[in-house]
Amino acid sequence: MNALLGTPGKAVWVHRVTGIVMLLPFIAGLSGCDGIMSILDVRGPMAEQIARLWWVLFWGSVVLGGGTIALVLYVVTRPHERAPRIGSGMGVMIGGGVVLPVVTLWALLIYGVSLGTRQVGGEEPPALTIEVVGHRFWWEVRYPDPVEPDEYVVSANEIHIPAGVPVDFFVSSADVIHSFWVPNLGGKIDMIPGRVNQIRLQANEPGVFRGQCAEYCGPQHARMAFFVRAHPPEAFEEWLAAERGEAEEPTSDLAVQGREQFFQQACMECHTIRGTPARGRAGPDLTRLGARKTLGAGTLEMSEENIAEWIAHNQQLKPGNRMLPYEHLDEETLQALSAYLESLQ
Ligand code: CUA
Repeated sequence: MNALLGTPGKAVWVHRVTGIVMLLPFIAGLSGCDGIMSILDVRGPMAEQIARLWWVLFWGSVVLGGGTIALVLYVVTRPHERAPRIGSGMGVMIGGGVVLPVVTLWALLIYGVSLGTRQVGGEEPPALTIEVVGHRFWWEVRYPDPVEPDEYVVSANEIHIPAGVPVDFFVSSADVIHSFWVPNLGGKIDMIPGRVNQIRLQANEPGVFRGQCAEYCGPQHARMAFFVRAHPPEAFEEWLAAERGEAEEPTSDLAVQGREQFFQQACMECHTIRGTPARGRAGPDLTRLGARKTLGAGTLEMSEENIAEWIAHNQQLKPGNRMLPYEHLDEETLQALSAYLESLQ
């Protein structure tokens, strides 16, 4: 049989092996494309545009990279006696070395810029605008009142949006450059001190999505996360109306004691709890802390025990964050404080 077909030559084998090696990242990628941090797990029209760009770049690189490797292999493996005469390669050099890159890069530039412009918004007016301010290392979230734009509902580290409609985000920073990014819902945008940038996100369906700071901003950059909760539009309106109100009054004795401790320990110097004298702005607003999914911008799951843990040992849990550790507090005070803060829902 081998005598009839002949054994494959060296060049053929090199081609086969190279082909398989080039397919490996693609095969591996297919199994790892899902999840809350993947731009290929598309959950809305803005994310769809980003994913399309990714696939254009991917297949473009496969064709161009594959073509280049094939040419190199052809040149190095062919018999010497078939070497071209000097000068015959000029057409290939100009075509492949000048015309092809210029045309490809210009096409990509025009496509990329037009896509970037669409990420900022579209003809459809937004259903809602939300302001997000980056801090080291947490997120301040402000919902301007549609009637009184100077009035805000302020929250932190969790963003609620209506599903199925576009939401425009106006982002800035209070200190260094951060980057606002929800991979499943759209592109990312830098948060720059003294400047307001804009990006549009949209979730097709209700759900919970993860956001992450995407620009190195200091030692706790990796623990600067947030969650986006997309609600059906009516449920979102209900949520916003409830959010607008003042904090829940504590009901248990422990929580009442915790509220006293909150003021005795001077927590109100940095935190706001609406409906109480606490008006601090240096740290996250705590009016609905207990309703959030996480503590410390994605560092711990929300629970009473973890709140106590965070108050006492936040510098071990998230070294370099701007909150003071309260390791000197006794167990009873910590329990009271965490019972109060967890009751704020
Ligand atoms: Cu904020 Cu990285």
